[in-house]
Amino acid sequence: MVAIKFDGPRHKQLTESCKKSPLIQWGRLVYSEHNGFPIGFGVGMHGTVPYVLGALRTVMMALPKGTFLDLGSGSGEAATYAAKSKWDAYGIEVSRKAYELSKEKIDIARDKRFIKKIPKIGYGNFFPKGFDFRVDSSGGYAWDGLEEMLLEAKDADPYQEIGLDISHVDLFYHFQVAFKKDILNLFSEQAKSGAMLFFVASLEDECSIPENVDEMQVYKDFYLYEKK
Ligand SMILES: C[S@@+](CC[C@H](N)C(=O)[O-])C[C@H]1O[C@@H](n2cnc3c(N)ncnc32)[C@H](O)[C@@H]1O
Repeated sequence: MVAIKFDGPRHKQLTESCKKSPLIQWGRLVYSEHNGFPIGFGVGMHGTVPYVLGALRTVMMALPKGTFLDLGSGSGEAATYAAKSKWDAYGIEVSRKAYELSKEKIDIARDKRFIKKIPKIGYGNFFPKGFDFRVDSSGGYAWDGLEEMLLEAKDADPYQEIGLDISHVDLFYHFQVAFKKDILNLFSEQAKSGAMLFFVASLEDECSIPENVDEMQVYKDFYLYEKK
């Protein structure tokens, strides 16, 4: 398992530096151009953006650059950040609105020269066709309208759209919306050996860790998994 030191003060410092970064300022600009429409994550005004980008930055700095995939890429901030950090960056998003906004934001990032490498975002379900997963519609926790969005996107093939084979991904990222068990099964079954998963836990749904996966809690709700 890769060694990542991730303590409170360092994390706070990274969060602060991310807040000042051009990427976040670009996020603010896009936010105002959209009349403050607070879609998903990654609009630059959402409190978790600098927080999570600070953590991602730590993880990305500790790993050799490779292929990054945001499972549920929202409005594209993390994928853009990965591209800015010279990773080959991809995202998959099932909300049409978030997907379209991420494309617009990436165009602005390119035009304003925040990024040279362009992240590719695909529309649809990040769980590949035939993969067994659950959506919580019991009222316990549900991402607003997720079931409807997944139904609307049932014929879309985001992996084909972005030309990505899941077994080529070096670093996955998921800000938890799906069940941990499903994300870990996807990672365990389809990621290549040596691939990493940065997982931000937001649900209380503990599950057993697949045998071919190592777990490390890097900080509070931040977990890192490695496929053996
Ligand atoms: C909590 S947001 C995180 C956004 C982004 N990863 C970030 O950290 O800024 C989760 C996103 O995942 C998307 N999502 C949830 N389930 C999905 C699925 N099965 N396939 C694709 N996108 C999904 C949601 O629409 C939402 O935009």
